[in-house]
Amino acid sequence: MSFVLWKPCYCIGDSKIDAQHRKLVSILNFLHDRILEACSKKLVDRILMELVCYAEEHFQDEESLMEKIRYPALEHHRQEHERLLVEVFAFKKKFDHGLATKMELLHFLRDWLINHVINEDLEIKKYL
Ligand SMILES: [Fe+2]
Repeated sequence: MSFVLWKPCYCIGDSKIDAQHRKLVSILNFLHDRILEACSKKLVDRILMELVCYAEEHFQDEESLMEKIRYPALEHHRQEHERLLVEVFAFKKKFDHGLATKMELLHFLRDWLINHVINEDLEIKKYL
């Protein structure tokens, strides 16, 4: 079973953004499966960086969409994206120093992604 299950209620109603969210979830599930197979830290790092790079691209696309629709909370949302990036790099540092386990990393990433979708991204839906 998938570690993170994508639910239709997470959709904001923009096909590109929704597809990107699903891709982020699938990278996270891929990471989970590799961790269950006891993969190397090197591979975890590689998948984590793929997730972060894809998230950065996705944040830019989401911000472009918000600009296009003149989303009123764009600045707040942009700051949230910046905060998410700072947070993920801080957790990565902790992980690199052996202060967090692979499972803790997974749980952090799941909350990091899903809480943002629920609390911030779904707000955009009202303006589409
Ligand atoms: Fe967002």
